[in-house]
Amino acid sequence: MASRSIFLQLHVFLILALATTAFSKTLSPYYYEKVCPKALPTIKRIVEAAVYEERRMGASLLRLHFHDCFVQGCDASILLDPTPTIDSEKNAFPNINSIRGFEVIDKIKNKVDKICGRPLVSCADILAIAARDSVVALGGPTWKVPLGRRDSTTASRELANGDLPSPFMDLPALIDNFKRQGLDKRDLVALSGGHTLGFSQCRFFRDRIYNGTNINSRFAKELRNTCPPEGGDSNLAPLDPTPVCFDTAYFSYLIKEKGLLVSDQALFSGGSTDGLVKTYSYNPRVFSADFANSMIKMGNIQVLTGKQGQIRKNCRKVNY
Ligand code: HEM
Repeated sequence: MASRSIFLQLHVFLILALATTAFSKTLSPYYYEKVCPKALPTIKRIVEAAVYEERRMGASLLRLHFHDCFVQGCDASILLDPTPTIDSEKNAFPNINSIRGFEVIDKIKNKVDKICGRPLVSCADILAIAARDSVVALGGPTWKVPLGRRDSTTASRELANGDLPSPFMDLPALIDNFKRQGLDKRDLVALSGGHTLGFSQCRFFRDRIYNGTNINSRFAKELRNTCPPEGGDSNLAPLDPTPVCFDTAYFSYLIKEKGLLVSDQALFSGGSTDGLVKTYSYNPRVFSADFANSMIKMGNIQVLTGKQGQIRKNCRKVNY
C-alpha cells in the first residue's frame, strides 16, 4: 500500500515537472496584455518615428533581432556593452562597425518602463516586437509576436563569431548554419528575404563584384563605382533595388544573378533552393506568409522564460 502511494506521488511529481518545463518555455502574444496594455502600442510608435526619421532604421532593427537570436538564443545578449566580465557580441566580426539601432532600443526601453511603471518588458521581447513593427512600417506582413522572453546575464563574442552566418558562405554552409539553429531550408530562403530591406558595405561584396562568376556583368560593373578595388570599405549599396520597401524584388534579382552577397546568390545558383526563390519572386503572398512564420520560429530559438535570466533595467547592462 505504502509503495503504491509513493509510486502515485512520484507519478504526480513527474507529470507536474514535465508540465512546468513544457509550459515555462511557451511564449504568448498576450503576455503583456493584462499587466501593461500600453507596452506594444508604445513600442510601435517609437519604431514608426525612428523609421520615419531614417528609413534604413527598419532594416537595422530587423537585423538586430536576427543577430540576437542566432547567438545563445533570443535573449538580448547582443545589447550588452563590454565590461570586464562581458565580452560584448558588439565586437564580434559580423557586428563590429556594422550592426546598428541600439539607440532606438534604449529609447523604447526607457519609455516602456516608464509607461508600465517598472521594468516589465524584457529587452529580448523589445527586439522581437521592434523587428515586426519595422517590417510592417516598410510595407511588409504583420504577425502576432509570441512574448515572455527574459534577458541573459551573459554574452559571447566567441559564439557570435562562430554562429552568425558569413556573407561568403555557399549553399551547403548556409543550410548547415541554419540547421544548427533548428531552422530548415525554407526558413533559410524566407528569412534571407529580409535582405529585401537595407544595405551592405563594400567590404562584404567586393570580392564578388571583381571575381564572382555567377554575377550579371552589367550589375557588377555598376557596383564597382560604389566599391573600388581598394578603399571605400564602408561605402553602401542596397541589398535589393528597393531597400526601404518590403517586396519580392530581392528574389527577382537573384534570378537575374544580381544578388549582392555571395550568400544571397547561393540561394539561386543551381542548387536545391532555386525553386523556392522562383516561387517567392512571383508570389508575394507566399513569401509574406513564410517570412512571418519563419520569424516566429526564429524568435523561439533558445528563449529564457520563467525564472531564467532577468528583466534588465538598462538593455546595455546586467542588473546586479
Ligand atoms: C543567410 C545568412 C545571412 C548573411 C550571410 C547575412 C549577411 C549580411 C551582411 C554582410 C549584411 C551587410 C552588413 C553591413 O554591411 O554592415 C547584412 C545586412 C542585413 N541583413 Fe543579413 N545576412 C543573413 C541573413 C539575414 C536574415 C535572416 C535577416 C533577417 C531576417 C537579415 C537581415 C538583414 C538586414 C535587414 C540587413 C540590412 C541592415 C542595414 O541596412 O542596417 N539578414 N546581412
